[in-house]
Amino acid sequence: MSGIERLKGHLVETGGIGRPGSVRVERSDQLSLDIGVTRPTGSKENRQIRDYAVRCMKEAGLRVEFDAVGNIFGRREGSTPGLGSVMCGSHVDSVRNGGMFDGALGVFGAIEAVQRLKEENFENKRPLEVVIFTGEEASAFKQVLLGSSVLTGKVPLEQALDLKDEKGRTLRDALDGMGYRGTSIRRLDDVEFMIEMHIEQGPILYEEGTPIGIVQDITGLAWMLVTITGQENHAGTTPMKMRKDALVAAADVVTFVNKRATEMVEELGSTTVGTVGRLNVFPNGTNIVPGKVELGIDIRDVNRKNMEDLIQITVDFIENLEARYDVTTEIQMPAIHNPVPLSKEVTHVIEDSAKKLGIPSKRMSSGAGHDAQNIAEKIKTGMIFVPSVQGISHSPLEWTEWADAEKGLEVLVETLKSLSKE
Ligand code: GLV
Ligand code: MN
Ligand code: MN
Repeated sequence: MSGIERLKGHLVETGGIGRPGSVRVERSDQLSLDIGVTRPTGSKENRQIRDYAVRCMKEAGLRVEFDAVGNIFGRREGSTPGLGSVMCGSHVDSVRNGGMFDGALGVFGAIEAVQRLKEENFENKRPLEVVIFTGEEASAFKQVLLGSSVLTGKVPLEQALDLKDEKGRTLRDALDGMGYRGTSIRRLDDVEFMIEMHIEQGPILYEEGTPIGIVQDITGLAWMLVTITGQENHAGTTPMKMRKDALVAAADVVTFVNKRATEMVEELGSTTVGTVGRLNVFPNGTNIVPGKVELGIDIRDVNRKNMEDLIQITVDFIENLEARYDVTTEIQMPAIHNPVPLSKEVTHVIEDSAKKLGIPSKRMSSGAGHDAQNIAEKIKTGMIFVPSVQGISHSPLEWTEWADAEKGLEVLVETLKSLSKE
């Protein structure tokens, strides 16, 4: 079977894992908003896709191991002893009701690339390693880029393992439940290069009709997890003046973050974005004054100072709500992921690979977060983007044309060849 058929087969097959009815989607006209893909870390579906990927890795001749935070590595030795490896991969967890390409394309693309090299009898002097990072999406444990954060020492292992999902289950138990908790953290000192192929998740390549994006830098990414506590009470009998309505206070935060980020873009010409994407209202009853609200705030910029400014002004705003609404507030800040430039050396190799294949490419920034940005703080790292139809992602309607996936794969294969040669 040729490359794209096999890659397509894996994506169609795994695209059914975590989709209601396990529906297999091969064409974009089969997509529908109510049948997205949901594979949070620790779920049965997350285990299924991990098991599937491990089988594919073994078929591609890779030796598979996993570390103490459940990151999976599949290794093919190189012919020259002592050289650092070329690592390549992405993630298989998903947002809730998301798409079938986010993460999966980079994982199964990496496995397929290694399979092609094996079939061509290509001599890789450096070892090749396919990596699957745990919990990129935060859909279970409320911290993005979790596996790569532990791998790079940014988040201590025990702290990560103690994180709890919405049902109170720890990451430790979730990994044990799936059979993917190893014993040690993989060291990165014998890794020379890292490559992640991914869908763009934005409209630029699609709008321009350019098949390949070469990522030069990745935006910084910070989350604020906020709890506002007021007093739950009867909606009919509690006079307006006597209320401690946590949702009214939270509504101000939603508006403030949007307004301030918009102003920063207008005033500074910055790339600032601010979103309140998660709101849990307790007890969430129409006839009850809301007693508690949890908010998830996402703040990004390619300039760290802008990010820090927006975080600080949001913290001040939230603290001021206490006096205004007679509520209490609590803010948790998971690790901030810095904006990072990617390796110029790897960027050139990707660019040359695309040129050699006659595939048009362009350099661009990534507004989405990726595990590659953690790894890039330690290792020479590059990213290959392929177009997202209509720029849609983190949605069941996310789609990438198979022909574009094939082009990304070809560029990836060529890049791996160059990087693993010497
Ligand atoms: C990662 O999926 C992100 O939120 O950008
Ligand atoms: Mn994502
Ligand atoms: Mn992703």
